Amino acid sequence: MDKLESARERINEVDRKMAELWVERMNSVREVSEYKREHGLPVIDTSREAAVIENNQKYVPEELRGLYADFLRDVMDVSKSYQRSAEFSSPDTVTLSLGDRSYNILIRRGELKNASEHMNLDRKVLVVTDDGVPPEYAETVARQCKDPLVVTLPQGEKTKCLESFRVLLKAMLEKEFTRKDCVVAVGGGVIGDLAGFAASAYMRGIDFYNIPTTTLSQIDSSIGGKVAVDLDGYKNTVGAFWQPKFVLIDPDVLKTLDKRQVAGGLAEAIKMSLCFDKDLFGIFERGDWEENLDEIIRRSLVIKKTVVEKDEKESGLRKVLNFGHTVGHGIETAENGRLYHGECVAIGMLPMCSPEVRKRLERVLLSLGLPTGTEADFAAVKSAMLHDKKSEGGGVTVIRVNEAGSYVSQKIEFGELFAELEEFFGEDSK
Ligand SMILES: NC(=O)c1ccc[n+]([C@@H]2O[C@H](COP(=O)([O-])OP(=O)(O)OC[C@H]3O[C@@H](n4cnc5c(N)ncnc54)[C@H](O)[C@@H]3O)[C@@H](O)[C@H]2O)c1
Ligand SMILES: [Zn+2]
Repeated sequence: MDKLESARERINEVDRKMAELWVERMNSVREVSEYKREHGLPVIDTSREAAVIENNQKYVPEELRGLYADFLRDVMDVSKSYQRSAEFSSPDTVTLSLGDRSYNILIRRGELKNASEHMNLDRKVLVVTDDGVPPEYAETVARQCKDPLVVTLPQGEKTKCLESFRVLLKAMLEKEFTRKDCVVAVGGGVIGDLAGFAASAYMRGIDFYNIPTTTLSQIDSSIGGKVAVDLDGYKNTVGAFWQPKFVLIDPDVLKTLDKRQVAGGLAEAIKMSLCFDKDLFGIFERGDWEENLDEIIRRSLVIKKTVVEKDEKESGLRKVLNFGHTVGHGIETAENGRLYHGECVAIGMLPMCSPEVRKRLERVLLSLGLPTGTEADFAAVKSAMLHDKKSEGGGVTVIRVNEAGSYVSQKIEFGELFAELEEFFGEDSK
């Protein structure tokens, strides 16, 4: 009896170890699948199976080899069904991997009506939107919630403030939201940043889902976890890092967005293409961006997710996403609301490019109806740049693109940067 017990114990122990090894194997399978998907390779590939079985035979005694081959085949079958069934292997999903804060981003037309298949809406849900977003989007989401509360705020950057933050927190408190309830943003970057910040703070943080409805938010702001409000006109001064649990991108909702907003958001995709992906820049140069909008969104998100995975809290690499923004933010403040964020980024990228890239970029911007210069007073731009919270001592780190698809980062004194910009503003702002 004792012998039987101890043999069973050993088997239990082996099973426990095997479970750990199996999880390790599945994680690697997942990693390989994600890599392949991102590089456009077929995710399921059976050509290596025979080699795997062959190579592993040497580790087992001869009399067990046949059985071991059967076992390995089973293991590989399970891996394949994991690759097929798991959402990460679907071509319209991008996974942002941040350990236990990882989440999926789904890009699928018409999926708004199926939001509850991806998000747990079977609880109290604060649905936040603004009055510029067609109300049926938030209504479509609310209909899928067990206990929804829709809050519609006035549209515009001014809504991204502490007062709205308070409105959202109070709404949740009055409706007795607990830590188990959640917030869903249905809107552009303003609503996403604000609702995400409210979710990060309510009861020290509750689940947050983002359903971005502008090009800017679908391409850029809805992922990465930066949530914030402005304070006394200073952008994003109060905020947190709070990752969403899921991001649902339905490009169909962009049909109601006006052309100027659409183009503005695309500037962020152009930014990412210039730094990382010359093929993506090629789509803009060919001029067929409208047919390729889903692909533009997906590729931009893959770039952003790769950067965020390496540097979630912006201690280094993530600064590359500020390409065009150092000058762009200065212009945005100096223009005082006349130009959209993306339009300012578009202009801000130009002086940071080599002459060759600048020419190509100018053509792309003009084809999208984006501005290539500003009327803003250069003194006001300079002063705004000096106030930017990203300044470091007497200088700032700028990102430059000398060749499409790659960037260099440079720490530069303001005096030197301003001297360089004088030329640009001199020739382009008139
Ligand atoms: N968190 C981040 O990482 C990050 C990154 C970049 C920008 N941002 C922030 O994003 C904000 C800008 O976001 P935005 O450009 O989306 O602006 P926005 O949220 O103000 O939306 C622009 C306008 O479009 C309207 N709208 C939204 N969706 C619509 C739709 N589908 N159809 C018709 N109208 C629609 C809105 O009502 C609004 O008037 C800024 O506050 C910026 O700081 C955040
Ligand atoms: Zn931006």
